[in-house]
This record gives sequence, structure tokens and C-alpha cells, in this order.
Amino acid sequence: MSDSILKNCKVLITAGPTREAIDPVRYISNHSSGKMGYALAEKFLELGAEVVLVTGPVHIQLKHPRLEIVKINSASEMYLACCQVFEEVDIAVFAAAVADYRPAKVSEQKIKKDEDSFTIKMVKNIDIAYEFGKVKTTNQVSVGFALETNDELNHAQHKLQKKNFDMVILNSMNDANATFGYDTNKITIIKKDLTQKQFSLKQKTEVARDIVREISSLLMKQYQYQEIVAFE
Ligand code: CTP
Repeated sequence: MSDSILKNCKVLITAGPTREAIDPVRYISNHSSGKMGYALAEKFLELGAEVVLVTGPVHIQLKHPRLEIVKINSASEMYLACCQVFEEVDIAVFAAAVADYRPAKVSEQKIKKDEDSFTIKMVKNIDIAYEFGKVKTTNQVSVGFALETNDELNHAQHKLQKKNFDMVILNSMNDANATFGYDTNKITIIKKDLTQKQFSLKQKTEVARDIVREISSLLMKQYQYQEIVAFE
């Protein structure tokens, strides 16, 4: 296994949900537990990498001498935190369940229930993975997730191309005991050349090992390619 290649690598991981404020006491969020992103961080650390984990609010504790944790709430905070490190990293894994929209206006005061109904206008959040896909260099590997309910492979391939990922991890909501909240996950890995690899239902820690193994071999290929180019 080509894991030693990770020893001097710096890895950025986004994890968990984001919270988009409605007023000082309420927010819009999702069910992400952060388990997959944290399991990936652990695996990268185990194999010698330096990790920056930019994380939304989750109930997981992780400590390691080579781990920097940056805690954020909103999507725009997550983006700003990633901006601080993206240039320096060899690998970026976008495992966070970023809220696609946020309330257009955050009420300064707690909203009172005076009305029988009310509408919240939402505006689009920045797409973090897409933004970094535009500036990614050929030395950097970027990996995204795609959580889909239908036409899964097509949607995942579309995300891979649109966000300039080198690899997409597809989760299907149709698989039992996978995705949000579970300790297990069932993934399909799709690479840039559109080759696919399906994995069985496993503990998220084992899924993390499979993903990190695939990233290592991708990095290895990239280094070999660069050596050949330099030699020519
Ligand atoms: N992502 C991100 N920033 C966003 C939205 C998504 O970085 N604002 C990243 C996720 O972390 C994931 C990938 O992009 O790695 C795909 O996320 P997903 O929510 O499945 O896709 P969307 O682009 O939001 O598309 P849709 O919700 O329409 O399926």
C-alpha cells in the first residue's frame, strides 16, 4: 500500500453541517453528523499527514499533534477558513454538508410569532468546492462527495466535472444504513477518467481507509507523472 506518500502531505478536510442564522436563536441546518469527515481526518493523521479540519458543529472530539481544527458555523465562515489554507495543501476533501441557501436577511431581534405564517427569502450560498476547483493546481488533489436520491451516477459525474474534482465519493440515499447519522456507509468512487469502483456497506472508519487508499494511489500516479515530465 502506498500510504507512506502521505507522510509530508498537508490535507484540508471540510466536515459536518453548516448553520445559517435566521435570527439570534434560530438557524437552518441539516442532519450531517460529521462522522465521515472526522473518520477521514483520523485516517490521514494515522498515516502521517498534517490535517486542517474545517468543521461545522458536531458532537465529535478529535485531538492530535498534527491536527488543526477550525470551528465554523455558516457556509461563508467555512469558505473563509478554507481560503486561509487552500494554497498550502496537497489534498482537499470536501466532506461537509454545506447548506446551499441562507436566509437573505438575518433578523437582529428574535422573531416573534405575531403572524399566522411568514416566508423566509433564501439566497444561494457560495459553493466552496466549486470555487477551489477553479484555482486548484495540477499538484493538488481534490475530492468531493455526492449524496443523491436518484440518477445517482449521472449526478455524481456531473459534480465531478463541474467542481473539477479528481474523485467523487457517491452516497445513495437509497442504500439502507448508509449516509446521515449512521456509523456505516456504502460508497462508489468515481474518478476523473470516469472509472467507477463500488464498495460494500462498511463501518465509516473502514470506508475512510478505502477512500484514503484511493487518494494515495492517485497522488502516487500524479507524482510519477511529474517525475516523467521533469525527466523529459
Ligand atoms: N459543496 C461545497 N459547498 C457548497 C455545496 C457543496 O463545498 N455550497 C461540496 C460538498 O462538500 C460536496 C460537493 O460539493 O463535496 C457536492 O455537494 P452536494 O450538496 O451533493 O452538491 P450540490 O452542488 O450542493 O448540488 P445539489 O445540492 O443540487 O445536489
